[in-house]
Amino acid sequence: MTLEAETKAVVAKFDYTDEDVNKAVKEFLRQMGEGLEKDGTSLSQIPTYVTGVPNGTEKGLYMAVDLGGTNFRVCSIHLNGDTTFNLTYSKVAIPRELMVAKTAQELFAFLAKQIEVFLQTHHEEHFEKHKRRRLTVSTPEGFRDEEVFRLGFTFSFPVQQIGINKGTLIRWTKGFDIPDAIGKDVCALLQVEIDKLHLPVRVAALVNDTVGTLMARSYSAPGKTSTVLGAIFGTGTNGAYVEKLENVKKPMAGEYDKSTGLMVVNTEWGSFDNQLNVLPNTTWDIQLDKDSVNPGIQMYEKRVSGMFLGEILRLVVLDLLKNPNISLFKDENSSSNDWRSTTNIGEKSSIYAQWGLDTAIMSVAAADNTPELVTLRQALEALDVYSPSLEDAQAFKAIAGAVGRRAARLSAVAIAAVVLQTNTLTDPENEGEPVDIGVDGSLVEHYPYFRDMIYEALRVIEGVGEEGAKRIRIGIAKDGSGVGAALIALVAAGMEKSMST
Ligand code: GLC
Repeated sequence: MTLEAETKAVVAKFDYTDEDVNKAVKEFLRQMGEGLEKDGTSLSQIPTYVTGVPNGTEKGLYMAVDLGGTNFRVCSIHLNGDTTFNLTYSKVAIPRELMVAKTAQELFAFLAKQIEVFLQTHHEEHFEKHKRRRLTVSTPEGFRDEEVFRLGFTFSFPVQQIGINKGTLIRWTKGFDIPDAIGKDVCALLQVEIDKLHLPVRVAALVNDTVGTLMARSYSAPGKTSTVLGAIFGTGTNGAYVEKLENVKKPMAGEYDKSTGLMVVNTEWGSFDNQLNVLPNTTWDIQLDKDSVNPGIQMYEKRVSGMFLGEILRLVVLDLLKNPNISLFKDENSSSNDWRSTTNIGEKSSIYAQWGLDTAIMSVAAADNTPELVTLRQALEALDVYSPSLEDAQAFKAIAGAVGRRAARLSAVAIAAVVLQTNTLTDPENEGEPVDIGVDGSLVEHYPYFRDMIYEALRVIEGVGEEGAKRIRIGIAKDGSGVGAALIALVAAGMEKSMST
C-alpha cells in the first residue's frame, strides 16, 4: 500500500461520526443520572458543597495553590469586587519522583515548602511579621485570626468531598501513583505540613480545578447569564456544572447551605464510559491503556486529553515504522532486518519511548498550513527524524489531525450532555441568552481549531442543533483554578464566620 493510502486507512479509524456523537451524548446523560443516584458509578458526579456561583462583587486577599498535573502553582489573589482581580503567582514543575513517591507526606512537604518560598518572595512583610510572632507563640494557632491567609487548595484529582475543606482521595489520575494517599483527607495532609513550617496559612477550601474554572468564569463572565459549566481540556479532562439540588439523590455527608437550591457537581467525566459502551477503541487505544498506570479507568480522558493524545499518535507512528511495506520515515538505503535500523530516525529519539511524543507537536502539525510544511518538518527534525520528506510530514499531519479531531468531537459530547442536563437552552427564563461555559487547559488554549471542531460537532447534536450551538459561548477562564479557589476560600471563610456567631 502507498503511504497515502495507508494514511487514509489510519485516519478513517479515528472517524467518530455524527451518529456516534449522538449516541454518546445519550449514554453520557444516562451515566450522569446514574452518578447522581448512587456512589461507585463510572461518572462519579461528586457533590462539591459549593452551592452557588459568584457574581463579580466579591472582594478580599486570598491565597490559592494548585496541584494539577504537571506543575504546582502558588498564588495570591486580590479580588477587586468589580469582576477584576490581581494575581501574583509562581510555578514549579513537580519532580517526577514525587508523583510516584512512597509516602504522601513527601509530596505534601514539598508543596508546603513552596508556599513558604512564595510568602517569603511575594509577601515578605507579612511573612516577617509572622516570623516575629512565632517567637512569642509556640503553635501556629497562636496567629491572630485576621493575620492568617485563607487558602483555596485546588487539587485536581477525584476526591470524595465531605465538606468545603475536607475530602478524601478516591484514586490518582494523570500518571500520579502514591498508594498511601488513597482514602486520606488531602486538606489535612497539606495543613499538617504547613503547620510544621509555622506558616500563617489555613486551608479553607478544597477545590477541583473544574470547579475553580466554573467559579472564575462566573466571576468575570460578561452579561447577566451565569456560567453553567467549567471544564478542563489540558493534561487531563473533566467538568463541573451547576445542578439542581433536588436532582442530587445520593446521600451527602457534610453541612451545606440549602437555600440556593443548587449544588455544583464535579462529574469526573474522565472516567465516562469506562465500560466502553460508546467510546471508540482502536488497537492504539487498547495498547495505551494496557501500558498505563491505571488500565480500565479514565477511558474517556485517555481519548481526549493532552497527556494521552501524543502517545496515541506515537503508537500509530511506531506501527507504521514497523511495517516494511510502508515508506513513513524510512531509510531507503537500509536493508536491515531490525525495523529500527530501517528508519531514518536517530536511535535515541524519544519517539521510541513511552510518552516520548509531546502532544504539543500536534499543535505544530495543525498550525502548519504551508505547502512545504516547513515548521512541522523542523519540529520532527528536533525529534531526531533526519530530513523528513514532505510526504512523511503530510502523513504525520493527517494522522495527528485525525487524533485531535476525534478528541474534539468527544469533547463536544460531554459539553452537550451537560448543557442538555441543565435545560439551559430550553429554560424560558434564559430565552435568547447565551449559555456560558468556562474552559481552561493546554488543548483549548493551544491546539488550533480545537474549539471550531467542538462547535462543528455541537451543531449536529439533537437538542442542540445550529441554533443551540450559536447560543453556547465557550470562553477561556485563564488562571481559572487559582481565582476560583480564592473565591471558594472566600465563601468558606464566610461560612466559618456565620457558624461561629
Ligand atoms: C483528571 C482528574 C480531575 C481533573 C482533570 C483535569 O481527570 O481526575 O479531577 O479535574 O484531570 O485536571
